[in-house]
Amino acid sequence: MSVCNTTGLSLEQQERWPYLYRHLIEDIEVPDLSSIELTHIETLDNELSDLIKKIGDAKATSRESLTKHLKGLLFRRFGKNAVVEAFGSTVTNLSIGTGDLDLCLSFKGKQPAKVLKKLSGLLHEEGMENIQSIPKARIPIVKFKDPRSGLDVDISLDNRLAIHNSEMLKSYAQEGRLQRLVQMVKYWASRRGINNAFEGTLSSYAWTLLSIQHAQLVQPPLAPNRQKGAKSNQVSIKGVTYDIGFNNERYPTENNQSLASLLISFFERFATRWDWENMVVSIRNGEALTTKAKKWQHTGPLPLEVVTGADDGRMEHVMPIEDPFNHEHDLSRVVRAEGAMSIQNEFMRIIELLSEGTTWKEICEPVMELEEEPNDLFHDLRSTPANEIAQRLEELRANLEVVETQIRELVEERQNSNELLDLLRGGMREARNVRSDRQQILSELRPLSMKVQEMREVRDGINQRIAIPTNRIKQEMMRIFEKLTAEVDIFNAPNLGVERGDFAYFFELQAMYEASLKSNEAHQEFIRLRREQNQEYRALKKTKKREEDVLTRLVESNPALEGIHPNPKSVKEFQKNAKLLQRSINEQYSTKHELRREIGRLEAWQRISKRKQRDSDGNRHRTQRNQRSRRPRAPEVNINEVRQKASSGDSISLNELDALLSKGGIASIGSSDRQKQQQKQRQSKKRSSRKIDIRQGRTRGRKESRK
Ligand code: GTP
Ligand code: MG
Repeated sequence: MSVCNTTGLSLEQQERWPYLYRHLIEDIEVPDLSSIELTHIETLDNELSDLIKKIGDAKATSRESLTKHLKGLLFRRFGKNAVVEAFGSTVTNLSIGTGDLDLCLSFKGKQPAKVLKKLSGLLHEEGMENIQSIPKARIPIVKFKDPRSGLDVDISLDNRLAIHNSEMLKSYAQEGRLQRLVQMVKYWASRRGINNAFEGTLSSYAWTLLSIQHAQLVQPPLAPNRQKGAKSNQVSIKGVTYDIGFNNERYPTENNQSLASLLISFFERFATRWDWENMVVSIRNGEALTTKAKKWQHTGPLPLEVVTGADDGRMEHVMPIEDPFNHEHDLSRVVRAEGAMSIQNEFMRIIELLSEGTTWKEICEPVMELEEEPNDLFHDLRSTPANEIAQRLEELRANLEVVETQIRELVEERQNSNELLDLLRGGMREARNVRSDRQQILSELRPLSMKVQEMREVRDGINQRIAIPTNRIKQEMMRIFEKLTAEVDIFNAPNLGVERGDFAYFFELQAMYEASLKSNEAHQEFIRLRREQNQEYRALKKTKKREEDVLTRLVESNPALEGIHPNPKSVKEFQKNAKLLQRSINEQYSTKHELRREIGRLEAWQRISKRKQRDSDGNRHRTQRNQRSRRPRAPEVNINEVRQKASSGDSISLNELDALLSKGGIASIGSSDRQKQQQKQRQSKKRSSRKIDIRQGRTRGRKESRK
């Protein structure tokens, strides 16, 4: 069966991690690197120096001009409040040419919330490719590729700590052998596909820290602990305080090991001796910390358990590496199970290959097909007839015109759409105000109506009981009062019964009078409340009118808003439309940039071809005129001089550029040196042909011993 019974790895996984797999299923002894032959080390050392000369920072100029360009771009977009600083290998002197360009974008004052979104839009307009924005990362970041230089760029927001630790790395890189060790480790990790934090392996930064730790631990030490005993320098970043102090003095090392030995012992240390389960890499401490002291013990499943599906838990502290300034940050946090398996596999592989004396070139053979840069920009045009190129150019220009028109239209449409959206939002705000006013009126109207009703009931209740107007009651009271209080005619005195009746009637009238007054009061209050109520009704009516006015105004300001209600739903629809438009604009921008590049390339080729044609015509005439003085024609351009000029950054003419491109291109710069080196290597190979025998013998021997 294809799944291994012992490890649980599928056939595909066994093939993916062959070195590790063999170590898992067989009881193989890890090769001992301390017995590598001295001659092997020397050869390796020569190979490494050649490689370092070659890789240098081939893209230093591109990096510099791209940084300048991006700085200008961001300045124009965000003003002087936006500060752009480079960090990472661009400033640490630890670049291997293929690394990315790390930029930090910080804002004085408050950081605009939508900055990443704006940035992505801007980069699209600039024709950048593979733009990925990761706003929710620990450090928000935009990643993209600049198609002109081929450089990958990371712009992170407010990554202050990275700027400080880059300064410290630069300080460590003062020691040339450590600088080269880092470069070689990064080169190996990059070619073997294990230095990409986004793909679940260790970042270049993490490999750099491992190299520094190694340099601190070799005997005698190659690098000091720059933080130990350094003057404290506390900075506060996003509310957390870090001590970024370090010593920047030159370190007089007594170590005189070659780069090759340092590299071999690096792999020996981390691939075979380092107890990853109990040790934490810590350059701040100058030596390992224990995972126990650091409270960074491995938790969760082992990588093997995850990749075989035996456990899907979360792994913590797989290869603990402490950030020198942010002590809580373990750089292996990004390592996923598959990444950890690949790293272990590469460790096993390099140990085996080094022990066999394999060349560094073979050791660093790329895992994936690397994108070979075409060494001739015009390679496909050299055999294309001029009229075909002219026709292609015409088509491209026509396409460009179409695309530019489309962009203009789309941009216009986006502007219109944004305008409508703004109007709609304004309308929504106004409508919201009107609605809240209406709500307010209604909330006041409800108790008012109840009071009106109450007063009406009080008044009507009394009136029902009395049924006589107040005036009449008053007159009756006066009459009875006068009757009761008039002088008594002793001859005609009222009898007692009549007088009692009058008194009772008077008291009744008095009670009726009081009730009638109350009824009047209730009536007055009723009237007042009704007036108030009417006012509120009128205000309510006005809000209706205002709402209608909002709609009318909206349509008046832009007839396209006819029938659209200023509510959150329509706003959302407009926003969705704006997003789609933006996406189309970005796509068109990419097409436009591609077309422009291709047009530029064809035009340059046409200019070169015309110049060539003119030169050869001139030569033919000259040759005809001077038939007799047939001297050998001097070469038009001296390719070696051109190479020298190009490598030293001097400007070169179109003719020279063409000569350079047709003779191996940019990659050929320094090739004369390389040729000499290759010759030297061939000679040294001849001299050390015994070495190859030894290596083959060893391999055979090992195989035999395995039997
Ligand atoms: P290349 O780009 O491959 O040349 O390597 P580099 O030296 O620029 O390292 P990398 O691009 O991985 O990281 C750039 C800088 O980011 C480092 O020098 C650190 O200053 C900073 N950094 C801080 N924390 C982290 C982290 O967790 N991961 C990574 N990748 N970088 C960090
Ligand atoms: Mg970098």
